[in-house]
Amino acid sequence: MNVIVVAAECAPWSKTGGLGDVVGALPKALSRRGHRVMVVAPRYSNYLDAWETGIHKRYNVSGQDLEVGYFHTYKDGVDFVFIDSSIFHAVASNIYGGSREEVLRRMILLCKAAVEVPWHIPCGGVCYGDGNLVFIANDWHTALLPVYLQAYYRDKGLMEFTRSVLVIHNMAHQGRGPMSDYAKLGLPEHYADKFRLFDPIGGEHMNVFMAGLITAHRIVTVSHGYAGECQTREGGWGLDGVIRDHNWKLRGVVNGIDDIEWNPKLDPCLQSDGYSNYSLETLATGKPACKAALQQELGLPVRSEVPLLGFIGRLDNQKGVDWIAGAMPWMMNQDLQLVMLGTGRKDLEEMLRHFEGCYRDKVRGWVGFSVKTAHRITAGADILMMPSRFEPCGLNQLYAMRYGTVPVVHSVGGLRDTVKPFDPFTDSGTGWTFDRPAVSGLTDALGNAIWTYRDFKKSWTGIQQRGMTQDLSWDNAAQQYEEVLLAAKYTW
Ligand code: GLC
Repeated sequence: MNVIVVAAECAPWSKTGGLGDVVGALPKALSRRGHRVMVVAPRYSNYLDAWETGIHKRYNVSGQDLEVGYFHTYKDGVDFVFIDSSIFHAVASNIYGGSREEVLRRMILLCKAAVEVPWHIPCGGVCYGDGNLVFIANDWHTALLPVYLQAYYRDKGLMEFTRSVLVIHNMAHQGRGPMSDYAKLGLPEHYADKFRLFDPIGGEHMNVFMAGLITAHRIVTVSHGYAGECQTREGGWGLDGVIRDHNWKLRGVVNGIDDIEWNPKLDPCLQSDGYSNYSLETLATGKPACKAALQQELGLPVRSEVPLLGFIGRLDNQKGVDWIAGAMPWMMNQDLQLVMLGTGRKDLEEMLRHFEGCYRDKVRGWVGFSVKTAHRITAGADILMMPSRFEPCGLNQLYAMRYGTVPVVHSVGGLRDTVKPFDPFTDSGTGWTFDRPAVSGLTDALGNAIWTYRDFKKSWTGIQQRGMTQDLSWDNAAQQYEEVLLAAKYTW
């Protein structure tokens, strides 16, 4: 099949979170399964490894004529096409920055240009638009693509064999705006109802995500748990009714991980400063070496027996950092060490600095983001906390398990799908999960994890080993995407 994945970000060129990782990895896995795959994303800056095609087009966006160019590169069996325009350069690394109008303008341009790429850009001499083609759009940013495909082409008998799938990575952002913005989209009047939503959050408003969900031939959420949660009032952010109406075309597929980048045996971040590569066979020596190196690097007391807890992620309420803050007094009464990496809400950044100041031998907070440090914490910590209030999939818990680091997670969305609670009676499970959405839920789960770590070494090693030997690869996920693509292809 011909597949075109369209998104606002694509790692390693652009990334603000898990979406970028998925868009960088899923296409390669689909290509390994024999499909012809292209990725279309904006060109936010001067990417040295992608070249100008010399093709230029003009698109009308909110009444203004904008010219775009197309850059191309071919890697790991995938064609990457970057849409070049001054409005993308202007944001550089702040991909979702600017006013609501500016963000919408960029997404309109991306979708208008992307839907035509299969015709204009011959990759390796061939066009993608010559056979069965399925677009995979991602989140509200590219939810206009299924709509443009339908309105501009399929309604006119063009692109008859082309279908679209819309992937939900996060329902909390939907491209909401006043209905008066509808005129900017350049769509026929009779499409307006697909965008018009009345809900308690926004009153009557224009909702870009909703129109994409209604129009796409198939919908994917990035876990099974999240597929269910999207249909509830708490998880749907106003779109639960729309998803329930369309759940016949909805399927959950858990993301995979890039197991070349996240492989403790090969990880280049573990090749200096006392760190060490390790695998299942060398877990007993390699992981303690990484823990000692991490303690050393952070200036914490180098103690092998103390449980080292890690957190990596945005410092905000979605990630449950306020629960971690609430659990601090309890944690500081335990013999443990804690390292947290991330940026976000200023008061939570302050909280981190405060505890680091008060408990120099226990806490380190790294306000910022560093890929290398993320890898080193994943390798050196014993436990990774992910108390997210909601988590469509979550990737850090997957990376942790691959590295023999035991996840303690709130039982929601992808976290519930991927972390199996430890059961001492059957000696099964890969971590701890808690249901109670409160500080005490987190501390109870942490208490159990720490107790097992200290007193039941054999059980602990079993948890680590089961985590490390799971198939978390994209190949597994790509096979399920393939089933969705086929289902889309046979949808009218
Ligand atoms: C979003 C979600 C996260 C998911 C990622 C990739 O960032 O919040 O849970 O892992 O997308 O799908």
